[in-house]
Amino acid sequence: MSDMVYDLIVIGAGPGGYVAAIRASQLGMKVCVVEKSDTLGGVCLNEGCIPSKALLDSSEHFAQARDKFSQHGVIIDPPRLDLARMQGRKADVVKKLTDGVVFLFKKNNIERLQATARIGTVDGELRTVHLSGGAAGEATVKGRRLLLATGSRAAEIPTIPFDGEFVVDARGALSFDKVPEHLVVIGAGYIGLELGSVWRRLGSKVTVVEMLAKPLPATDGQVADTLVRSLKKQGMTFHLDTKVVSVAKLNDKISLNLEGPGGPVAIDCDRVLVAAGRVPNSDIPGVLEAGIKVDGHGRVTVDENYMTSVPGIYAIGDLVAGPMLAHKASEEGVVCVERMNDEKSVVDYEFIPGVVYTWPEAAGVGKTEEQLKNEAVPYAVGRFSFMANGRAKCLDETEGFVKVLAHPETGRVLGVHIIGPRASDMIAEAVTAMTYGATAEDIAMTFHAHPTLSEALKEAALDVGKRAIHS
Ligand code: NAI
Repeated sequence: MSDMVYDLIVIGAGPGGYVAAIRASQLGMKVCVVEKSDTLGGVCLNEGCIPSKALLDSSEHFAQARDKFSQHGVIIDPPRLDLARMQGRKADVVKKLTDGVVFLFKKNNIERLQATARIGTVDGELRTVHLSGGAAGEATVKGRRLLLATGSRAAEIPTIPFDGEFVVDARGALSFDKVPEHLVVIGAGYIGLELGSVWRRLGSKVTVVEMLAKPLPATDGQVADTLVRSLKKQGMTFHLDTKVVSVAKLNDKISLNLEGPGGPVAIDCDRVLVAAGRVPNSDIPGVLEAGIKVDGHGRVTVDENYMTSVPGIYAIGDLVAGPMLAHKASEEGVVCVERMNDEKSVVDYEFIPGVVYTWPEAAGVGKTEEQLKNEAVPYAVGRFSFMANGRAKCLDETEGFVKVLAHPETGRVLGVHIIGPRASDMIAEAVTAMTYGATAEDIAMTFHAHPTLSEALKEAALDVGKRAIHS
């Protein structure tokens, strides 16, 4: 290892770093990845996207069996929860996927170095990275280029510090070994609504506290309102426009004092999930000494090639500006190494889809109505309810709608927003259409198999010209 000069050293094996490493290897680079954890895949695979979706799917099955099977004529005794088994299945899904990354590293001849990395000095054309504290031992590696992909961590609210047991971040809330009686969620963002849903379905009382007047500010307003209405129907309580004033712990109970539009509110609970955003892990040892510029939000500053202020050192994903999403990090990883290879690849930042994996799911791409209004862009709206979609009726999942926003003259699709069953999968068609500059008419004239949920997108596209057939 010590004599090897790598073309690329990647620090961090999350969806940004590991995907970049594979693409770099495909392009003929000799690559190593330094990762301090003993598993690959980063937060996404180990303690974020994947385990949360595993629990969301399992808890949705439980809720369906309890609340919905009888409507389908499937009569069962009330289902019982085996939380240890549910958590075990989650761990199994995570293990299979992280093992999959190990396999991909072997297949692509990527060297995996388990260690904490410290960025060293530039030695001629070479960047050095010092390794310590892991299976790779104490060592120094040299590379022509260095890519930082160390991701982000949960932001801590100073008045409600994490204690790993009663006040937890998403990682903690994915690993409860019993269902909390009362879970208070601070922050009605992606993590708060998804993990709040998991524990509500499994029987917790769930109270969500959000400092803004509306949750999910980047989401289309109608979609966000419909989602909150639905989550309230499922039994979640929301305190919007509300601040946490103080928190006290007595024995196994936590007392929170809130200040909301109606005055002070006191809540007792047994667990608090703080999901108030994430901060970039830009405090990589050696960053400052190397002269890598970091902005006031802790994000590493990069140019259009993802190069930092230090030549030959690059950064992608949650470390740099933009939404903290796994698919954004992976795309940046691919484009970053392709640009190192003199290819003219680009990330289409306009068309990054966002998904909230609650039930119903919410997904969107492009501009929201609020953004179009603010930017004074004229638009026409087409909408179609899942109530009138045959497949949604068969599934008994008729809550929600698809909304297509298009330019009234050119017809070009400006945004698509969906709340409903499997919105996460349906949004892909809208992303493809918009990436290729499609008009609403293009979507409307494309075959959509019958009966499928995707017909709701076709009908919403038809509705832009007031030609929807089933509404
Ligand atoms: P977020 O930024 O989505 O939401 C945080 C919420 O907390 C905001 O609504 C904010 O107003 C509120 N908040 C902040 N401080 C507060 C306080 N003191 N009291 C009450 N409310 C407060 O952040 P979240 O949910 O923690 O997720 C972090 C990142 O992870 C996001 O950027 C998201 O993109 C990503 N993520 C994406 C998922 C997905 O794609 N489905 C799932 C989970 C996370």
